[in-house]
Order: sequence, then C-alpha cells, then structure tokens
Amino acid sequence: MTDVDARPGTTPLLRFPHGFRWGTATAAYQIEGAATEDGRTPSIWDTFSHTPGKVRNGDTGDVAADHYHRMREDVALMKRLGVSDYRFSVSWPRVQPTGSGPGSPQGLDFYRRLTDTLLDAGIRPVATLYHWDLPQELEDAGGWPRRETAERFAEYASLTAGALGDRVATWTTLNEPWCAAFLGYASGEHAPGRTDPAAALRAAHHLNLAHGRAVQALRASAAPSAEVSLTLNLHAVRPLTDSAADRDAARRIDALGNRVFLDPVFHARLPQDLVRDTAALTDWSFVRDGDLRTASAPIDSLGVNYYAPTLVAAGGHPTPSPWPAAGGHVGFPRLPGHRTAMDWPVDAEGLYGLLTALHEELPGVPLLVTENGAAYDDYADPAGRVRDPERIAYLRAHLAAVHRAIERGADVRGYFLWSLLDNFEWAHGYGKRFGIVHVDFASQRRTPKDSARWYADVIARGGFVQ
Ligand code: NOJ
Repeated sequence: MTDVDARPGTTPLLRFPHGFRWGTATAAYQIEGAATEDGRTPSIWDTFSHTPGKVRNGDTGDVAADHYHRMREDVALMKRLGVSDYRFSVSWPRVQPTGSGPGSPQGLDFYRRLTDTLLDAGIRPVATLYHWDLPQELEDAGGWPRRETAERFAEYASLTAGALGDRVATWTTLNEPWCAAFLGYASGEHAPGRTDPAAALRAAHHLNLAHGRAVQALRASAAPSAEVSLTLNLHAVRPLTDSAADRDAARRIDALGNRVFLDPVFHARLPQDLVRDTAALTDWSFVRDGDLRTASAPIDSLGVNYYAPTLVAAGGHPTPSPWPAAGGHVGFPRLPGHRTAMDWPVDAEGLYGLLTALHEELPGVPLLVTENGAAYDDYADPAGRVRDPERIAYLRAHLAAVHRAIERGADVRGYFLWSLLDNFEWAHGYGKRFGIVHVDFASQRRTPKDSARWYADVIARGGFVQ
C-alpha cells in the first residue's frame, strides 16, 4: 500500500508501494544512430527523415545520441540514477534487415550486450518490439495497411524473443499504434507520410492483429516468467461542454483514439460506433474471422503513455487530420494555462483520470505508466549546469497524480520517465529536448539535468516530499 508519512514536525512524503518500478524510457531510432552499421537496413524513418521538408531542420537519426557506441556509458548513467527498469526498443531493421528472413547476428548481439550490461547493473530490461521503425522494404510491399506485415512482425517477434528471451523481464509488442497508424498513414506527419484515411484504418487493424500474433510468438519463445504487454497513447478525452454535440465529438475521438485498440485487444470486438462513423471510408471487410480473437490474446499488463489531455468540441478542424472519421465534426480548442516546449498543456489531472478510468474498465489488468515527461528549452549554463525547474514541476505533479490513482485502487506497477536522454523527437528533430540528461549533439557530451538529480532522489526515497 501507498502511504503518506506525516509524523508531527515532518513534511509529508508521498511514498509509492514497495516494489514500484522506477524507470526511464527511450526508443531505438531516437537515440541509437549507427544507421548503416553492422548490416542495418533503412526503416521508414530513415527514408522519411531524409526526405526534404519532413523533419524540422532536416534532422535525421543517422547519429542521434550515438547510443549504439555509448551504450555502456548510458547504462552507467542509469545505474547512478538508481532506476530499477529501463524501457528501450529493438530496432527491427537492425536485428532482421529488410524485415524478413534470418536475424542479423551483429544486430542481435547489440541487444544481448545491452541487456547483459543492464542486468549486471541490476536494471530490468523492458523491451519494446515496435517503436515505429518499420523496415522500408515492408513499407514498399504495402506497409501496415497490408495484412502480410502482421505476419512479418510475428516472425520478427519470435526471432528476437528466441535470442533475448531469457534476459528480458517485460516485452511490449507495440508502442503507440495510434501514432503509427494515424500520424503515419492519415495525416502524414510521421513516416511513411501517407495521407490516406482508409489506409490508416486498415493499418490500425493490422497493428492489432500484429500485436496478437506477436503475443502468441512471445508466449512460445520468451521466458515463461516474462511479462507481455502493449503500450497505448490513450487520449484523456474531455468534451468542452456538456452539450450533446460536444459529448458526441468526445465519443468520436474516444472511439478513434482509444477504443479502436482497447476493444479488439481486451474484448475481441470492434467498436460499433466507430464502424458506423467510418462507413464512408471502409466497410471493414479486411477484418477476417478469427482476427479479433487473435488480437485479444491475454496480456499481463497495459502500458500507458501520457503527456496531455485532449479537449474536444463539436465543429470543424483543419485538414489533413489524423482523425479520419471526425472531419467536420470535431474541433480541438486550446486548454488555457502553462504549456511545454511542444506547446502541449500541462494537466496532471488527465493522467489521474485515465488511470482510474482504466482501473474501472479493465479490472485485473495491471498498469504501467510507460511514458511521461516534458520538453523544455534546456541549455547548460557557463558552469555546465542544466537547470530545468519546469520539468521537475511537471514530473512532481504527474507523479502525485499516479500516487493518487494508486490510493484510489488503480493497480499501477511502475513509472517510466520519458526520456533518459535528449533525442530525435520525430518530426521536430533535435530541437525538442525531453531528456533528464542533456545531450550536446556536437560533442555527444551527457550532462544530467537538475531533474535527473531530483528523480534519483525520488527513487532513493521511494517517493517525494510534497
Ligand atoms: C511518445 C513516443 O512514444 C515517443 O517516441 C516520443 O518521443 C514521445 N511521445 C514525446 O513526443
């Protein structure tokens, strides 16, 4: 149980449950670099970032934070932070170049070394199989809108689990399939940059199918004790007013942003309102008998990534949009208040609401906050110190929300701060810094920010003074 230490004369300490997992998170394309080394082939993000106009400043992941060559230094940093867990992703085109056929011994070896180094440092490896770097050859063959991609993913899952199965504590099949499907294939803001709303819906289904097929593969190849999970960026949807029109707008975004994944994965069904809302785009005949049963293979926990809530109201919004069925019906008003460098509002209540709602809707499913954090314009002062009080305030408010959700009965088992290092923030390039460790990309020098020291202290005490 959580408790609040408040002996007379002391300041209350929000204490997290014993065994709570304290982690940091990263993803392969955002930190590794070494894009052409040891047989790695291009992913859709290599192609996209090398296409002029797609990523701010023309930035690419070619070098990123050079983690491929600095892995030991980065694990040593985490050991000093005292984290119990590290969430990273495996680069598909590094371990299975071109997305089919045998695994790459050198690629797999990198992750063997990483997981061994973590285990030696007393840190549990939490591996995500898909954090958006689809091998380009699979996109050329049709990408996620093509059913076959789900089969390729199952093969890759089995190969990777076969090689690393005894070392990984938690396997996550997919990270934020909503972004992969809707930013990748509907709005085109992310790789592969397609703007075909019907293709995005097919992609969403095939990602669900890929998840289920990968769960089967992991159960067959990973260690029996391994936890199998999925990470979603669930939208904490809030209607602007209580009007029927605003509530209907919220329902549409909840269907397209949340239930499109939650319903197949946890209830083996498609949301019927989503099917109706999207009737002009597709008849969903690409969903075959048995697919929803496959997608709903039981998992051991659900990962939740949370940054900001989604305020919705009835009314139009600009196109192209990642919300194919919502066009013309939904607008996204701005929430007032403080915003991060991403121009995202800061609202910890959204995280509390999400965790408590999931606790009610999915009883018995343990939850992990697999990402939470904030970007600010951090820099090292002349003495080399990086002061980031706004990030500390953000983390403090969100951890307090997690604590409150646990007190209300939500079974939240851990918190993974995004991110360990400043890194390649997708279409924003290196301009947005999410790390608690500052990276000078010219020298690759790492400098823990004030927030890193704050987080290390939270971990050491198992909580923080409110
Ligand atoms: C979620 C994604 O999983 C991660 O890759 C990204 O950097 C963060 N959000 C921040 O946008």
